Amino acid sequence: MSPVIYTKNAVSDSVISTLIEIYNSSKDYQTKSMKKVSGQTDEVLEVLKGVSTIDTNRIQICHFYKHSTPYYPHTDYHFLEKENIVMPLQVFNGANPYLIVFDQWLDDDGKTWTFESNTTFSHNTGISGRPCDHNIKKSTNKEITKALYRYLSHYPKDYWFGLSGDPYEFKPGNTIQFDSKRLHATSRMHCEAKLGLTIRYKR
Ligand SMILES: [Fe+2]
Repeated sequence: MSPVIYTKNAVSDSVISTLIEIYNSSKDYQTKSMKKVSGQTDEVLEVLKGVSTIDTNRIQICHFYKHSTPYYPHTDYHFLEKENIVMPLQVFNGANPYLIVFDQWLDDDGKTWTFESNTTFSHNTGISGRPCDHNIKKSTNKEITKALYRYLSHYPKDYWFGLSGDPYEFKPGNTIQFDSKRLHATSRMHCEAKLGLTIRYKR
């Protein structure tokens, strides 16, 4: 599995404010737990050409997302979605949250673990239960560490059994790049909401 690439100060303030302006002037649609806006427009792609860590020729999917509750652990891999880039844009009224990228991955199409509920997702199939109840690779077969659970305490500790990984600060200016097969989740949020741009590379 390739390492996570966390690049600080990859995105200039002017690129961030331009992207926020584009988001604010777009019509958004609401999915079950987050607001999404397509970023797959010539306008956005043109702005992204000014970001050194983004290869606009590899982009398969690009959308803005804003949400106020932590997102479930999930993977994003699909036939034409091989790698994720998360670009934090704005954190509303509170401390920056973290994106937890786990060391474990799933050799299958994207899945979202909803723990107990039977939420259905149109793209990433929602499945009940915990990641460790499924065929994830490199499970630690141990409880999550105390250090990592500090970020994930919005769910009971045993929900995260078998997982290890690192927290990456959701800080505007930085980018987080990782294999789409890797499990990832939002940390406990101490802010009202966060806005980011998510990009997926096709190869
Ligand atoms: Fe994701």
